[in-house]
Amino acid sequence: MKHYISIQDIDSLSEWVKDARNLKTNPLQSKGLGQGKTICLLFFNNSLRTRLSTQKAAMNLGLEVMVMNFGSEGWALEYEDGTVMDQGTSEHIKEAAQVVSQFCDIVAIRAFASLTDKEKDEAELVLNGFKKHTSIPVVNMESSIGHPLQALADAITLDEQNTKAKPKVVLSWAPHPKALPHAVANSFTEMMLKQNADFVITHPKGYELNPEITKDAKIEYDQFKALENADFVYVKNWSSYTDYGKVINQDKNWMMTKEKLGNAKFMHCLPVRRNVVVEDAVLDSNQSLVIEQANNRTYSAQIVLKKILENL
Ligand code: CP
Repeated sequence: MKHYISIQDIDSLSEWVKDARNLKTNPLQSKGLGQGKTICLLFFNNSLRTRLSTQKAAMNLGLEVMVMNFGSEGWALEYEDGTVMDQGTSEHIKEAAQVVSQFCDIVAIRAFASLTDKEKDEAELVLNGFKKHTSIPVVNMESSIGHPLQALADAITLDEQNTKAKPKVVLSWAPHPKALPHAVANSFTEMMLKQNADFVITHPKGYELNPEITKDAKIEYDQFKALENADFVYVKNWSSYTDYGKVINQDKNWMMTKEKLGNAKFMHCLPVRRNVVVEDAVLDSNQSLVIEQANNRTYSAQIVLKKILENL
């Protein structure tokens, strides 16, 4: 594997999860692999988990790590070819990407969706710009469309916690005061479609995700019906995809409560707004897996970086 851009870059999800769980038992077992090599983490948006877990994973593999908050510290980048750069942008992606690749062996990038221009967001200008203009591997630390490191961590968590041959897993939309991207829900869906599970997506009408991603996944508009007999409930807000980037419904009744969760395990990628997305009683209960999901971010990043290093 050269790049890790989406869940589709995983050739065998079950093998990767098994390998990641093995790494978790002894995180320093491949410490020599990254010796003498450097990874550069470029953040165009904020982060807590992705920044620290990816850095930790790299250190576990013996990599040197350089981190840059590109969004606040770097030059404003231009992505269009042939542009007269007499406006706000100072540096073209062509030079920036080539320059970065001289200083490191792997580059990892976080660049969220704008939620104002669907076409540009779906073109993944930052991620694809780096991929096009560097010769080094590129890792997606959450882009406009996907968050495959999160989804791989979620697959590890599900594997650790599941006791059934075919568990029922529900992805439930929740209210949020701000318009949020689709990346987490997209990658979780793509990951679940690779699992032997009864997978159901539930959300108010108008919040359908990109049908090219959900494919033939079951969609149930009645949240109560969707949650019946659930083993795992993954809660996440996202903005409308059809009315792109808009908050079209903030129905508080969609918040996850202890009563609605029943006996299921609760999952969320974090950060989460308490008592808006999910009530305290869920997050503070032993049914919540959110801290373990965050812990598994290290091992999802580590298995990805290990596979890239083995191919360098
Ligand atoms: N889940 C996740 O990606 O967390 P951060 O935004 O804090 O990195």
